[in-house]
Amino acid sequence: MSSQEGIALVNRDDDGVDTAFRSDVLAGLLQPQKAISARWLYDDAGSQLFEDITQIPEYYPTRAETEILQSRGAEFAELIGPGRAVVEFGSGSSVKTPLLLSAIDPSAYVPLDISGDFLRAAAADLAAKFPGLPVHPVEADFMRQVALPDAVSGPPKLGFFPGSTIGNMVPRTAVDLLRNMRETLGEGARLLIGMDLIKDRGVLIDAYDDAAGVTAEFNLNLLRRINRELDSNIPTQAFAHEARWNDDFARIEMHLVAQSDLSFTVSGNRFAMTRGETIHTENSHKFNRRTANMLLLASGWDPQQRWLDSEERFSLILAEAKPPKSAP
Ligand code: AVI
Repeated sequence: MSSQEGIALVNRDDDGVDTAFRSDVLAGLLQPQKAISARWLYDDAGSQLFEDITQIPEYYPTRAETEILQSRGAEFAELIGPGRAVVEFGSGSSVKTPLLLSAIDPSAYVPLDISGDFLRAAAADLAAKFPGLPVHPVEADFMRQVALPDAVSGPPKLGFFPGSTIGNMVPRTAVDLLRNMRETLGEGARLLIGMDLIKDRGVLIDAYDDAAGVTAEFNLNLLRRINRELDSNIPTQAFAHEARWNDDFARIEMHLVAQSDLSFTVSGNRFAMTRGETIHTENSHKFNRRTANMLLLASGWDPQQRWLDSEERFSLILAEAKPPKSAP
């Protein structure tokens, strides 16, 4: 996953402050359960820390999804067929995308990302690996509907959304995104999407609270970022990372827990927290076959095939854009 901060798509005030970041943080700290959107975890330091997370032993999703992509190429080729334009939402993975592209013989590759720098690097990398393949990077916020380049108006599309990033959205936002993807990709489109599975609570907690403390650094970096960018004095050493399983919503939540009563200012606004109070910083929803199917169906996608890794930790689902049916 790349930094969510693009040069052209970010509004800054006269002091160079990202105005959306400041208003989100201030509004989030005013809520009874303090919460800051997970999108702000991904500044340059946070993006690097997330890359590090994908390598730690406890964080299985990246390895599990890569295993599926490595082992199911022949089935992808048969079910998806050649000639599709592959549109990757939030391009970035250096390992996963080539596995898909080499399996299905696409007509073009369209990486889509909000971060122009990250996008250009990913596009250049892919173009070098697949010399004959037209690559058309698009700098855009993939949460919205996107106009694809004219050069790919002809072939049918395959959307690619790996990593279970869909799990970082609450269901309402996930449905909006999946519907927008359907509009972006057009008639006859398919979608290959990664969704992490519900599993043993201890395995999940360990994956989001690793022994080396990399995920804790990733979470705490948000406070450091606020201090760096928003003229703030949050005592970061007085907060601890916590990963919680919320069974009602089948999700891992990341929180930053105040270790003592404390106060701080952010952009001139004073906030106080009592010991044990938390700032909620991320949701990572986990799915089973039924909840995954329901989410896709509610968004205009018919699930066609589902693959699991050998330890049944992670799923990759192929779905098809179908006109809605009102009755059986
Ligand atoms: C990017 N996303 C799919 C990761 C996840 O697993 O929810 C982000 C992450 N947060 C903590 N560890 C990884």
